[in-house]
Amino acid sequence: MAEEAARAKSVPGYLPGTDMPRFIRDMMEFVGMSEADVAAIRRSAPNVLAHERELTTALYDHFIKFPRSAQFFLKPDGEVDQARLERRKHSLGRWLRETAEAAITQEFSYYLLSAALAHGHRPTAPGAIPQHLMVGAMSLTQSALAGIFAQELGADEAAAASIAWNKLLLVQLSVFMLAYVPPRAVL
Ligand code: HEM
Repeated sequence: MAEEAARAKSVPGYLPGTDMPRFIRDMMEFVGMSEADVAAIRRSAPNVLAHERELTTALYDHFIKFPRSAQFFLKPDGEVDQARLERRKHSLGRWLRETAEAAITQEFSYYLLSAALAHGHRPTAPGAIPQHLMVGAMSLTQSALAGIFAQELGADEAAAASIAWNKLLLVQLSVFMLAYVPPRAVL
């Protein structure tokens, strides 16, 4: 860790955790997120939010189908912990609502970092959520949203919404990934 920190110091740049708005802004620029994308997210937000419960339920139903993801939602007796699952759906619902606003405020950027740490630095057994499951969960979310847009919007609007949400979700995924690598200066 000390070696890692020394190496990080020799690289010009900043530690993402010390300036999350900048990290997110830079990632948005990198994925080519435009004003038009932000507008497409806001226009499609009502379609997404009308399905909030269905989306969060589908995601967690999916998680409990596979032992590799279900293990994070079990009681000591091996049964699914419904109360915990309900809390998780609630957290995911809040995340979806805030994401739909596409307003990347300072507060939201640190909220995302703290959600990232809740997965990647989870202290209680069975430990951290493996990062590949976070990648998979974003893929599931992208697919579910594309399905809603294809059903409810015209072809052009559906394509614009899918493209814009995909960009934003993967910018968020890059924040989730920060929890899996030692702090490292970036440009
Ligand atoms: C699209 C990807 C995901 C998003 C956006 C997401 C969102 C969230 C949010 C917002 C929280 C609350 C964090 C907090 O309390 O600060 C949370 C907690 C949690 N999530 Fe996720 N999640 C995702 C994927 C997953 C996956 C793949 C799993 C497991 C298979 C998972 C399991 C959990 C658990 C166990 C907690 C509670 C952490 C703790 O023990 O404190 N999440 N999630």
